[in-house]
Amino acid sequence: MQNAGINALGLNWRYLAFEVHPEDLRAAIQGAQRMSFIGLNLTVPHKVLAVEMVDALDASAKLWGAVNTIRFEAKDEHDVWRPLREFSDVPRETRAQGFNTDADAITRAIREDLNLDLFGKKALLLGAGGAGRTAALKLAAEGVVELYLVNRTQAKAAAVAKEIQRKWPALKVKIGYPSQRVDLLLNATSLGLKEGDPLPFEEEKLRISDVNAVYDMIYRPAETRLLKIAKEAGCRTANGLSMLLYQGAKALEIWTGQTPPVQVMRRVLEKNVYG
Ligand code: ATR
Repeated sequence: MQNAGINALGLNWRYLAFEVHPEDLRAAIQGAQRMSFIGLNLTVPHKVLAVEMVDALDASAKLWGAVNTIRFEAKDEHDVWRPLREFSDVPRETRAQGFNTDADAITRAIREDLNLDLFGKKALLLGAGGAGRTAALKLAAEGVVELYLVNRTQAKAAAVAKEIQRKWPALKVKIGYPSQRVDLLLNATSLGLKEGDPLPFEEEKLRISDVNAVYDMIYRPAETRLLKIAKEAGCRTANGLSMLLYQGAKALEIWTGQTPPVQVMRRVLEKNVYG
């Protein structure tokens, strides 16, 4: 998807994947920086470790406490840090700036795929792991009015609820299932990844027809059991592929300074994931 985006923008760049041991992460980032890479993406388990390893953090990385995108930068003649793409020579002094494009991708996916603006809405979130916590905080930041948290390990949901309550005291956060209709059900658990997995919620506690829209962060399989029953019940549905797409598109925008060709990237991503 990134190489398709890069090509469509007419850039003579390449996006490559490297496997790095967590204990070598600092050396890997410095190596890329010394070789004047334009930037990097990082994935599990590097995102949190990298926060301490970059020279500057964008507001998004500070807010979410994780870095999934790095842009290398050098100083221009006015002593202002600029992206490396703007320099034709190889600058001596460079720095790494960390960004996070994951959280915004969640809400963009919900907005564009489900046509849902979260402000003032009620949401049920399943899962309180890494992805669930970020999603919960992002839903709160977008202005949901009621947030229901369900997780196998209730203590983790309680910790997320506490964090949200501290930051957004006006938001109604509850551990457990809603008693009324909700606008959104968001699955951030790993249930559904494997064939034969149970549904990520208890059917006696929630009727899927009491939900307007369902977003499943899982994208493989394309249609989880959750999405299947939701579709059959008439809910609007979307899978997690768009989250992957939008976090990548935003990263490409950060590196290039240009509007990313999202449709081109989507087509290639879908072809690669679904064949
Ligand atoms: P991620 O970074 O994708 O969020 P994670 O932090 O391991 O990964 O979180 C996985 C989520 O799926 C958690 O909410 C986890 O529940 P626990 O917090 O109780 O572990 C949930 N999950 C994984 N396997 C599950 C299962 N068999 N039943 C119910 N929930 C499960």
